[in-house]
Amino acid sequence: MTKMKLKNLSICMLALLAFSFQSCLEDAVDETKISYTESEWADISATLNLPQGFDEYNPSFFGGNNNRSDAKATLGRVLFYDNNLSIDNSTNCSSCHAQKLAFSDDKAFSEGIDGVKTKRNSLALGIGSGMSLANYYNNFDLGFFWDERAGTIAEQLKETIPNSEEMGMELHALTEKIKDLPYYKVLFDKAYGNNGVVEEHLITESLEFFISAMVTGQSKFELAVASSNAFNNTPTVNLAGLSDAENQGKNLFINDCASCHSASMGPFLTFALGIPANLTRGNNGLDMVYEDKGIGASTGFSNDNGHFKVPLLKNIAVTGPYMHDGRFSTLEEVVDFYSTGIQDHENLSEQLKEGDKPKKFDYTQEEKDNLIAFLHTLTDEAMLTDPKFSDPFK
Ligand code: HEC
Ligand code: HEC
Repeated sequence: MTKMKLKNLSICMLALLAFSFQSCLEDAVDETKISYTESEWADISATLNLPQGFDEYNPSFFGGNNNRSDAKATLGRVLFYDNNLSIDNSTNCSSCHAQKLAFSDDKAFSEGIDGVKTKRNSLALGIGSGMSLANYYNNFDLGFFWDERAGTIAEQLKETIPNSEEMGMELHALTEKIKDLPYYKVLFDKAYGNNGVVEEHLITESLEFFISAMVTGQSKFELAVASSNAFNNTPTVNLAGLSDAENQGKNLFINDCASCHSASMGPFLTFALGIPANLTRGNNGLDMVYEDKGIGASTGFSNDNGHFKVPLLKNIAVTGPYMHDGRFSTLEEVVDFYSTGIQDHENLSEQLKEGDKPKKFDYTQEEKDNLIAFLHTLTDEAMLTDPKFSDPFK
């Protein structure tokens, strides 16, 4: 977590010790409460359905309750849903990252401008459990995209927005296109105090703030962990908040899947469960010969062929189809694959090997059902329905 947060915390602790709780609260509140003037509000409300005050976007992550951060995330939200970000005004980020699908889409390959298809399956955003995507990836040393080729969200966006399969909009041309729109003049000024000047790096930064703010920890599994204190180093303990089937599925997952996917359960859960996030990338034996070589295609090393980022499984029940190429439509198909279908690829990760051969879990129908029941407990409805992540355009 950020140093800022720790600092605030210790200041608050001191304040508490000194019995001045009130001043602790005051310290935590930013000086400038941002709001709109009447004419600014007229410009905003002509196009956008925003609240008159700014939504609070996970202030702890941004280092205290900083209202500028809320304004940046709000600006990011508007950009995220704005068709102006594509060359032909047909596409915005949510075309391929829809809130109700955990900011992924329901196609194997997404459609960008002119109906051109992307080469890989869209990735879900918003991993929850108290840590932003950016912080999370930093902590676990993961990169963005299926082959981890981008180190930061800003880097990733510099590729996505101009990409001819996605939005086809050069960032410089984008600043020209939107700089005179009245709502951006207001929103850039609120976010950056700069009289509303639209700049390339502020576009990517505010989008990063919005994506980073997609944090909640309200899935059934997370709530069950949060209300349990019987955890450390006994990850297979049954949780009161889960059904028998879900608990059995959780235990199967911990034995068979968590060696790679532990972090998928959410970063704090990884610590709570006492399982380290062992693997950030791997080859799970989908094919003997990979059409898309994944990390191998970007590094050129044959040892990397068929290696992809180990994806996060938060909200996995709503993000199908699955895998980098969306080859499986349902979780049933995914579990069938792990049960008996792992291929003996030369780069198959150790975690899925038994001796020299691919593992065969050979699950019974009941085990499959339990595993899937557990995966469903990772769905965070609060995030999928929270109005502050929704489309603000009228
Ligand atoms: C045409 C569909 C499409 C559009 C439009 C689109 N994306 Fe994506 N996005 C994808 C696909 C496909 C991937 C995975 C690509 C890959 O791994 O090579 C992806 C990956 C990402 C990632 C990386 C996630 C991770 O965990 O590595 C982020 C962040 C992201 N997109 C944000 C955005 C933002 C913000 C916008 C709008 C500016 C946007 N995307 C527009 C399809 C799209
Ligand atoms: C070797 C480490 C490893 C193990 C062990 C493992 N996985 Fe995976 N998993 C991966 C990788 C890597 C991918 C991405 C593969 C790709 O798309 O090419 C993946 C993809 C997935 C996906 C698709 C995610 C998405 O967003 O499309 C699901 C679901 C999944 N795994 C569930 C499981 C389950 C359930 C188990 C246990 C039975 C398991 N995994 C065991 C490495 C692993």
